[in-house]
Amino acid sequence: MTASDAAFPVARPRRLRRGAALRRLVAETRVRPENLVLPMFVKEGLTEPVPISSMPGQVQHTRDSLRKAAQEAAQAGVGGVMLFGIPEHKDERGSGADDPDGVVQVALRDLAADVGDELVVMADLCLCEYTSHGHCGPLESGGHVDNDLTLERYAAVAAAQAEAGAAVVAPSGMMDGQVAAIRRGLDGAGFTQVPILAYAAKYASAFYGPFREAAEGAPQFGDRSGYQQDPANAREALREVALDVAEGADMVMVKPGLAYLDIVAKVAETSPVPVSAYQVSGEYAMIEAAAEKGWLDRERAIVETLTSYRRAGAEQVLTYWATEAARLLR
Ligand code: PBG
Repeated sequence: MTASDAAFPVARPRRLRRGAALRRLVAETRVRPENLVLPMFVKEGLTEPVPISSMPGQVQHTRDSLRKAAQEAAQAGVGGVMLFGIPEHKDERGSGADDPDGVVQVALRDLAADVGDELVVMADLCLCEYTSHGHCGPLESGGHVDNDLTLERYAAVAAAQAEAGAAVVAPSGMMDGQVAAIRRGLDGAGFTQVPILAYAAKYASAFYGPFREAAEGAPQFGDRSGYQQDPANAREALREVALDVAEGADMVMVKPGLAYLDIVAKVAETSPVPVSAYQVSGEYAMIEAAAEKGWLDRERAIVETLTSYRRAGAEQVLTYWATEAARLLR
């Protein structure tokens, strides 16, 4: 046997996999608690938190339980929270969304005061939780969402959220021109320093299923395919991102994440602004359900999926596991 035979194969990638210390040294991707954003639901008029059956471990918060959970997130080192409000009363135009005493505005004031220095307190900006028909804006006579009327509503909601202390507003309705309208609304109300995190590439996805129970915003007729993107399309996502950036988006989001990591990667390659991705309710439910049956290792699956989001190029990941994952990662 010659020396060169003894050294065969020359390339041995396994060399760098021998032992945890070496693997840690050469890891390309890290998930840090500050990369994570916790989406939270707060419901008007609740006296006790209500468990969300399709999202085990998640609740609709009361005003007080929200404050407590936000404190816990801050202590765990989580980067931010994203608030969703569920109003007691809904109407055609979603009036509760920009009511200064509306559920999210009250919560924003609380959290801005409690944890505003430690956490980025963000507000989801949409109308579907607030409209009686469950669509993301007021309707035209034909039943489609009236795009331009919705823009006026979004601008008003953005100003109300900023006034209440939102550090970032995050429009998720997928209306054309929403970022420009919101930027104008914010600037006009004196909030030139409040960034917009645009849900730029948001797909019409089955993975939002459990969220419908959580946020009580299911469309009462039809679906959201008239405004959210077709899962078949990638090029369209790049166009949506380009438009949102041109309109003044400070950050862009891809949603959902796991089934769209190709989109996350494409957007991350070309976006001039930071990229977020949303690990949505169905992704959460899928792993929780499989883990409950003992079919996979829950914590490993959580960290693995979060790592994949980061590897694809997302700076921030919205995840219902944010607080727990932050503790695991510390
Ligand atoms: C509403 C909204 C949805 C989600 C976030 N904002 C639902 C939808 O668009 O139908 C989904 C979040 C999740 O599933 O975790 N604009």
